[in-house]
Amino acid sequence: MANDTNLPGHDGPSDSLVPVSTADPGTAVERSDALRNPGLPPHRLRVTDTDPKKAKTAERVIVALFYVSLVGSIFAMAAYFAFPIKPNDLGSVRLNNVFVGIGLSFALLAIGVAAIHWSKVLMDDHEGIDIRHPVKGDPKTQARAVEIFRQADRESGFNRRVLIRNGMIAAFAALPFPAIFLFRDLGPSAGTPAEAFSHTMWKAGTRLTKDPTGDPIRASDVTIGSVFHVIPEGLNDTEDVLEEKGKAAVLLMRLEPGDLHVSPEKRTWNYDGIVAYSKICTHVGCPVALYEQETHHLLCPCHQSQFDITREAAVIFGPAVRPLPQLPITVDSEGYLVARSDFHEPVGPSFWERRGDYNV
Ligand code: FES
Repeated sequence: MANDTNLPGHDGPSDSLVPVSTADPGTAVERSDALRNPGLPPHRLRVTDTDPKKAKTAERVIVALFYVSLVGSIFAMAAYFAFPIKPNDLGSVRLNNVFVGIGLSFALLAIGVAAIHWSKVLMDDHEGIDIRHPVKGDPKTQARAVEIFRQADRESGFNRRVLIRNGMIAAFAALPFPAIFLFRDLGPSAGTPAEAFSHTMWKAGTRLTKDPTGDPIRASDVTIGSVFHVIPEGLNDTEDVLEEKGKAAVLLMRLEPGDLHVSPEKRTWNYDGIVAYSKICTHVGCPVALYEQETHHLLCPCHQSQFDITREAAVIFGPAVRPLPQLPITVDSEGYLVARSDFHEPVGPSFWERRGDYNV
């Protein structure tokens, strides 16, 4: 709380003097006022205060800056479409970011410069003093606040300088629109997540190939205890390699057939002890990449979920709530491992659209 008698421009006693007469005898300390409040310097008129032509020029500059901001916002929106982000093309990402960024930079910078310039050259620059008061003002204080607001309105010329005001409104009105285009990308692009994760590149007859070479895998290459990182044949030739791989990546392992405990409906999903499971963790989608050969457990390094391969990848530890989806496999006439079908349930994290029967 400021002391009312120690304001700039006021001469008065120092703020924390202890009157000697009221202090305990022998403990009072009277401090000297080493620095006197110099008060406010004399007001100096600006060139725009005295020369109407200069004031008009300054007004035009401010209007121009607000319209530069408007153009910047429009440029950012146009750039978003003129330089689209193409899948697997980092150059397109760079171009899009550069031009959208340039547009937004001008939009924000011009508003900032215009506001500062306006306040420095045209708004009334007299310095005022307002005494601090309790948070809740009485009716008199509130009336004073309204008066101050009106005074600020008069001094800034907000209502009087219509061009500036309209330019500023236009600039601020346009500013949020680039955000709509940018954040639009966060929405689902291929229907609901359930639909997006329900179908992968796997279909009946698709060969299992090594990641990343794409070499097909013979059943005889998969020895007991080995593990292969697998992608569907042809994945490297697709347009959206990363997107497709993010759904179709599979881990392939071979166990002694007697170690597998399979439910009747999945009896034919393994080939002579070779099993394939989605590599995408059912917790939040990290790649499950660690295979413990002796226990036949798969471990997700992100939050340590563990899946038991001998029991259809059931969750035995960690935050995942459902088993890894299994890819039904067999071999073709040349002995290469192939899929029998796509996964029978959505891969990846559990999400709200899922129903208990895995049909979506
Ligand atoms: S993503 Fe695998 S445990 Fe969290």
